[in-house]
Amino acid sequence: MDFSIKTIDAKSTSSAYKAIKTACIIAGVFENKKLSAVAVNLDQQGQIVAALKSGDISGKAGSSLLLRNVGDVAAERVLLVGLGTEAKTVTEKSFQQAVQAAARNLAGLGANDAVLVLPAVEGRDVAWAIRTTVIAFRESIFRTDELKSKKDTSSSGVKKLAIAVNASDATVAKTALAQSIALANGMDLTKELGNLPPNVCTPTYLATTAKKIAADYGMATEILDRKQIQALKMGSFLSVSNGTVEPPKFIVLKHQGGKAKDAPVVLVGKGITFDSGGISLKPGAGMDEMKYDMGGAASVIGTMRAVGEMKLKLNVYAIIPTCENMPSGSATRPGDIVTSMSGQTIEVLNTDAEGRLILCDALTYAERFKPAAVVDVATLTGACVTSLGHHNSGLFTRHDDAHDKLAAELLAAGKQTGDTAWRMPIEEAYNEQLKSNFADMANIGGPAGGSITAACFLERFTKQYTWAHLDIAGTAWKSGAAKGSTGRPVPLLTTFLINRAA
Ligand code: BES
Ligand code: MN
Ligand code: ZN
Repeated sequence: MDFSIKTIDAKSTSSAYKAIKTACIIAGVFENKKLSAVAVNLDQQGQIVAALKSGDISGKAGSSLLLRNVGDVAAERVLLVGLGTEAKTVTEKSFQQAVQAAARNLAGLGANDAVLVLPAVEGRDVAWAIRTTVIAFRESIFRTDELKSKKDTSSSGVKKLAIAVNASDATVAKTALAQSIALANGMDLTKELGNLPPNVCTPTYLATTAKKIAADYGMATEILDRKQIQALKMGSFLSVSNGTVEPPKFIVLKHQGGKAKDAPVVLVGKGITFDSGGISLKPGAGMDEMKYDMGGAASVIGTMRAVGEMKLKLNVYAIIPTCENMPSGSATRPGDIVTSMSGQTIEVLNTDAEGRLILCDALTYAERFKPAAVVDVATLTGACVTSLGHHNSGLFTRHDDAHDKLAAELLAAGKQTGDTAWRMPIEEAYNEQLKSNFADMANIGGPAGGSITAACFLERFTKQYTWAHLDIAGTAWKSGAAKGSTGRPVPLLTTFLINRAA
């Protein structure tokens, strides 16, 4: 899909729309048979009013109707989309539904190009509307069929979408469009990596992908193999890969968009390419979905792609510990005690709590960069899904001024993009649950507050810098008939970084 910005001169807006030459112009209509300004302009002969009167389109958000041969209109077709109840501005939700309806319709048209005129959205600017539009359109055409022998090759559908904005918004709109496309490209990469099967998307595959991103966008990269990981004394990370023949990798990617001396923002992504649970084996039902246990890593790589394409003026580093968690004769046993890179010892009471075991060493490694902030992203706990469901990612930080500020930034970035997170507590009281009789800590804290004790575990490795943890277990992918990666939290992370660079 090819996006562009089309500017409309403010003085001529009242007549400009009917003169636009395109295969399809998209115009909003409201419930109660009311027309948007664009629709009024296109309705020279009363055909749109007639369509509303007849009930052919309700105007409810998400409703749509395609008209051809609309009198005195240069466009070959007019696609009406419902915007909900009439008001000066439309709600975020109605806008989203309208754009989705437009995308659905355009996908099946025998037309090449279309023009979308954006309505004003309540409390949101043009940049927001453009980003929401681009993401919705790209979402509607996203497919994972590389491994299907018969591809879904529909030749029809609109290939070029021009987004019409007032001339006064042109500069803002063009920047927003470039950033939205970079964001969508990042999300697509995250989805592709997530959806790939675990026999293809291995730690080595993630490393190759990271190298490619580094080459494409001029980033520095380091891929450490087992020997180098051993030399760093990452005993906790390596213990997770004991049961598999698949080699572990430790990936570092560096985008130097800011001044050389500026402290970087470091993103850390959990890269378990398959989580069987290890010796603490998971039940069989739905176990295939544990191929998504590299969702943190995939979102960090996708975000780096977006950052690279945007040439963001900020230093952003990515750290990805990646391996498989498998049972075998050489696998880590429940009861084993391992020594992390930090020197802290860990009693592995459950080999299925492996995410924290690979992340803790990556978090210690991050210290060397003297980071401005570290954000780790992980499909860490089923308990987080129980707490927050599939709408919000879990956000955990310490509770002091610096961390409240970082949390506020992340929460705001999530709200801006509809990729929301919800803050959870980290408190001393929960730390009690991590006590071990034989090591510095246990890797599990019992069934109560499982997402919180997991965060408390990670917190012990982040004392040297400002840190936040995103548990994306409920948001990284969808199950059931719509099974697939969501590309989250790439919108949140990318927007957080854009805001930091500004
Ligand atoms: N990758 C899982 C978490 C997970 C489970 C994410 C289900 C999404 C859906 C993680 O490694 C895990 O297995 N966590 C355990 C921790 C427990 C053993 C303390 C869990 O959540 O059950
Ligand atoms: Mn697990
Ligand atoms: Zn896991």
